[in-house]
Amino acid sequence: MSDGFYEHLFGVRGQVALVTGGTRGIGLMIAEGLVRAGARVYVASRKVDACEAAQAALSPLGECLALPADLATVEGCHALADEIASREERLDLLVNNAGLTWNQPIDEFPEKGWDRVMDLDVKGPFFLIQRLLPQLRAAASHERRAVVVNVSSVNALKPSGLANYSYAAAKAGLNQLSAQLARDLMDDHINVNVICPGPFKSKMTAPLYATEEMDRRMIENFPMKRWGAMEDVAGLTIFFASRAGSYLSGQVVACDGGSTAIG
Ligand SMILES: NC(=O)c1ccc[n+]([C@@H]2O[C@H](COP(=O)([O-])OP(=O)(O)OC[C@H]3O[C@@H](n4cnc5c(N)ncnc54)[C@H](OP(=O)(O)O)[C@@H]3O)[C@@H](O)[C@H]2O)c1
Repeated sequence: MSDGFYEHLFGVRGQVALVTGGTRGIGLMIAEGLVRAGARVYVASRKVDACEAAQAALSPLGECLALPADLATVEGCHALADEIASREERLDLLVNNAGLTWNQPIDEFPEKGWDRVMDLDVKGPFFLIQRLLPQLRAAASHERRAVVVNVSSVNALKPSGLANYSYAAAKAGLNQLSAQLARDLMDDHINVNVICPGPFKSKMTAPLYATEEMDRRMIENFPMKRWGAMEDVAGLTIFFASRAGSYLSGQVVACDGGSTAIG
């Protein structure tokens, strides 16, 4: 028998959320979890067909609306924020998940590999948060704080074996930007926290498990002997967005099956 305490603690029903890069991979996992938990979830990415597919896949589970946007540009961030503002008075949860990486040996790593990664992985989240502040502030109060979750990477915490120089720097930058924003938005009742995913299967990581043999060898090296799953990253996001996570701001949580601590 339930007295509603569980829903009070972990519920996000009725919240309005935006998940960038929510059309595939980790963003789609987070969006699915939020939709299933009863939030109204906007997902955004560049490709119109990917947006339509995500909306079609998640709508049978609850409320999901997809909005195409290029979040590597300030104009794209403004256009998305303005579209949200035209539809919603308040935004309870913003998940800055859209990101890309660039791998190339150090001797030939190009400037383009810096600009593209920094634009999407650090600059975009800042300008999206900035433009959505009125809606985040409208959702926030002393009793019920609004929440920003920035999706970073374990590569922000320790070097990887990949030649992803700009990515490691961008994600470390995102972590520090989040700490600064957690401080500056404290009195606006807006929490800013960071999820650092470890290995999750997605288009970004597909080259790492291209064959069954590669997949098996990858898993052997993971402390928990498995890839991250939807419940892992969606559960942590729901925790941050719910009453249970309300006393946390400026926190960085590695959602990595123990690999940062153990590996
Ligand atoms: N997978 C992992 O193991 C892992 C580990 C650590 C951290 N992460 C982080 O988790 C986040 C998601 O990664 P993922 O593995 O799920 O990647 P993914 O499969 O490549 O998905 C990236 C998402 O971002 C969107 N996107 C890309 N460029 C965009 C742009 N300019 N504007 C708007 N949306 C854009 C993509 O859709 P469109 O192509 O339609 O734009 C897609 O929905 C990233 O921030 C990544 O750095 C992932």
